[in-house]
Amino acid sequence: MDYRSYIAEKLKIDGLTVEEKAEAVVVPPDLSMGDYALPCFRFAKVMRKSPVAIAEELKAAFLPDDVITSVEAVNGYLNFRVNKAGLAAETLGRIFSEREKYGSSDIGKGKTVCIDYSSINIAKPFHIGHLSTTVLGGALYRIFGFLGYNAVGINHLGDYGTQFGKLIYAYKAWGSREGVEKGGVKELTRLYVKYHEYAEEHPEADDEARRYFKLIEDGDRECNDLFTWFKELTLKEVGKIYDELGIKFDSYAGESFYNDKMQPVIDELEEKGLLKESDGAKIVDLEEYGMPPCLILRSDGASLYATRDLAAACYRKEHYDFYKCLYVVAYQQNLHFRQIFKVLELMGKPWAKDLVHVAYGMVSLLDENGNQVAMSTRHGTVVLLEDVLKKCHEKAYEIIESKNPDLEDKKEVARTVGTGAVVFAALSNSKIKDIAFSYDKILNFDGETGPYVQYTAARIKSVLRKAGKRKAYTVAEINDDEYALISLLADFPDTVKAAAEKTEPFYITRYAINLASAFNKFYFDCKIIGSEESVKNFRLAISEATLTVIENALRLLGISAPERM
Ligand code: ARG
Repeated sequence: MDYRSYIAEKLKIDGLTVEEKAEAVVVPPDLSMGDYALPCFRFAKVMRKSPVAIAEELKAAFLPDDVITSVEAVNGYLNFRVNKAGLAAETLGRIFSEREKYGSSDIGKGKTVCIDYSSINIAKPFHIGHLSTTVLGGALYRIFGFLGYNAVGINHLGDYGTQFGKLIYAYKAWGSREGVEKGGVKELTRLYVKYHEYAEEHPEADDEARRYFKLIEDGDRECNDLFTWFKELTLKEVGKIYDELGIKFDSYAGESFYNDKMQPVIDELEEKGLLKESDGAKIVDLEEYGMPPCLILRSDGASLYATRDLAAACYRKEHYDFYKCLYVVAYQQNLHFRQIFKVLELMGKPWAKDLVHVAYGMVSLLDENGNQVAMSTRHGTVVLLEDVLKKCHEKAYEIIESKNPDLEDKKEVARTVGTGAVVFAALSNSKIKDIAFSYDKILNFDGETGPYVQYTAARIKSVLRKAGKRKAYTVAEINDDEYALISLLADFPDTVKAAAEKTEPFYITRYAINLASAFNKFYFDCKIIGSEESVKNFRLAISEATLTVIENALRLLGISAPERM
């Protein structure tokens, strides 16, 4: 039963569709007022009446029934109460029949959503700054997939530019095959830093580097072999982290993939009279739209990041015929995406409106004293994601060791908990907010953390193990704790949809925290094992359903729940 739609059907508001009315129905934070509510403020303008009058009027026209048992008008709100036993029976029944599919839907059927995320740069270390795009994108990928969309994960690799000429220069001057094989990306970074130090004194090196880059572009065998090697090496290293975080891609078409796909776009810009000459460079003037020009070709004829993004957008539309194309990229690139989207619009692409920049804030790490750990790529002081994960595994191990020293597979559990803590933390706030996290905070088993949710899941598993096989349940009396839990369970499908619509996986982390706290309150207030048979069976059913939903929520975030912890 979809209560929102049910209520919407019965609400008499002129000029609104059922969907619009359903969208206006909310779950109040405090269930003592009602199970669902309709804030009438939003209709005041159109209906030219006060919210209080609107609420009174709507109440008079709303006849309660078996499903919605009462309706009240209070201070401009309409509060509904549902038949609790009905809601409980329905919700539990649905969870037990749909299991790991509960919360999924087919609203996305036939629609493709491209998600450009993680999009790392070749030969650069994978640091904490890449965490958000990777886990946000990964979560959106799963959420859209869960809703029936055809989700396409794209890692738009940064694998093009003169820096690769510099790297080849540095490798030839100071590197060796064994050195790179052994040191991996760290060694490549060292070579790159070394190049910059050298080039300060010897600017002529830049000409050489440019020549090497040109050789890559012209298909020179040796340069391309080196470049391919650096690329494979980077992907192999980052692949380990992707595996750890449960991240997948359908395409690794990076910037260089568009080398031969830019010319048609440039031609089209020219044909449509959008290209302007400026100091020898080619630009699209965006002054009219309050933006600096979008640079398409440099005066030496070289293409830019923006040129490749234009080609990529056109290619994706043609190749995937997307319904939406999301770019999960830091807010620092706001202007870049506004420019790209505008240029495509000016080119007359009707689908330009379907491109979405999913911008997010900065992530930083706090040390033991609460000070931000400084990061600078140039000085080589980056916080590697690999190190953050490792540290979290160690800390999780210490905590488990002190709480539950006899636990089996402590190492494995510590891994799941440590990684879960990092992922959960990165998705714990509205994406646009900057986050600064400390190990102690994200690993706090009692805080609003991944481990807290995992711990709750393990607690439920333990209850279910102790209880043995569950008998059939019936729904009779329902107390407040039980109801609070059930109404949250009923709300999961809408939460998933809202997370997709607003591209906010944080709706799901927040939901998981609320669900875990509601369960813990229920667990402390209501005896399960040892209660009268019928009560016990009902409470076990609620517990089992809660576990299913917690696991579904965590799975969407890319987190698993250990059996015991
Ligand atoms: N590699 C880029 C960076 O690190 C991000 C690419 C984002 N995707 C895109 N289509 N521009 O800044």
